[in-house]
Amino acid sequence: MSTSLALLVLTLSYLLLLWLPPAARHSVMGNELEGKSAIITGAAQGIGAALARVFSNAGCAVTVVDRQAEVGAVAEEVSGRAFVGDVADADFVRTVVDETGATGTIDILINNAGEVWQTGPLDEWDKAVDDYDRLIGSNFRGAYLFGRAVAPLMAASGDGNIVNVSTDHVKPAPKTGWHHGHGAMDLYNAGKWALNGLTFDWAKALGPQGVRVNNICMGATDTAMLRGWLGDDPDPAYVAEWMSPEGVAQVVLELINEGPNGRTGDNIGLWAGHPTVLPTPEEGRTR
Ligand SMILES: NC(=O)c1ccc[n+]([C@@H]2O[C@H](COP(=O)([O-])OP(=O)(O)OC[C@H]3O[C@@H](n4cnc5c(N)ncnc54)[C@H](O)[C@@H]3O)[C@@H](O)[C@H]2O)c1
Repeated sequence: MSTSLALLVLTLSYLLLLWLPPAARHSVMGNELEGKSAIITGAAQGIGAALARVFSNAGCAVTVVDRQAEVGAVAEEVSGRAFVGDVADADFVRTVVDETGATGTIDILINNAGEVWQTGPLDEWDKAVDDYDRLIGSNFRGAYLFGRAVAPLMAASGDGNIVNVSTDHVKPAPKTGWHHGHGAMDLYNAGKWALNGLTFDWAKALGPQGVRVNNICMGATDTAMLRGWLGDDPDPAYVAEWMSPEGVAQVVLELINEGPNGRTGDNIGLWAGHPTVLPTPEEGRTR
C-alpha cells in the first residue's frame, strides 16, 4: 500500500471512530487502562456515573464516591467499590484513600462531585453563611482533600492523573462574549475558580514526580444538575446543543490516554454547541 493510501485509510478510520457514539468508540479502542485504578467522586449519577462506566470499560478498576447511596448500584454495575459520604469530610476522604490505596496504586483521581443552587450578594445573612460551607465544601474543599490525600501516593509511584471538574464560567466558549460571572452563582463560581489554584500549583509541584493535573471546564451537559437548574421546560433549541455525560467522560479518558508526556496545568474547555472533543492544549501546557 502506498504511503498516501495508508494515510488516507488511517484518517478515515480515525474519523469513523469520532463519528461513533462514545460507548461504541471505547469498545473499539480497547482496554487502554488495564491495570490502572481510579477514584471518581460524585458518581451516583450524571457525569460521574458516566465516567465510572467509560473508565471501567477501558479496563480501569473504579472506586466511586458519593453522598447518595445510589452510588452502590453504579459500583455494582462497574464491578467497583463504593463509598458513601461527603467529600468535604476529611475523615471520610482519609478512609476512602487509605482503604483504596491499601489494595494497590491509585493512578487517577477525578474530582467530579459538585452542586449548585442560586446564591448572590443580596441573600440574607444566615443563608449566606450556610451556603458558603456547603457549596465551597462540595465544589472546592472535597477536591482539595482528595488531591492532598492521593498526591503523596501518586508521587511515590512516579505516575498519576488528577482531573478537577470545573465549568465554562471559568473558560467560556470562544467568541461567546460572555462575562465570566453568572449573576446568581457567586459561591459555585468562586469554588470552581479556586480549583484553578489547586490545578496550576499541583501541576508544577507534582510534574517532576510524573503526576499530571488538569481542569475540565465544561459547559451544558444533560444531567440532573442542569435540568434542576433550568426547571421543567428548558428551551429545546438549547437542549439540542447540550453535551452528553458519556461524551464528556470519553474526552476525560482521552486526556488520561495522552500518557506521561501529556499536558498538565491545562484548562480544557468543552462547550455545548461545539464538538465534544479534546482540544489542543493551551500554550505552555505541554510537557
Ligand atoms: N451538567 C452541567 O451542565 C455541568 C456544567 C459545568 C460543570 N458541571 C460540573 O460537573 C460535575 C458533575 O455534575 P453533574 O452535572 O453530573 O451533576 P449531578 O448533580 O448529576 O451529579 C453530581 C453528583 O455529585 C454528588 N455530590 C455533590 N456534592 C457532594 C458531596 N459534598 N459529597 C459527595 N457527593 C456529592 C451528588 O450527590 C451527585 O450524585 C459537577 O462538579 C458540576 O459542577 C456540570
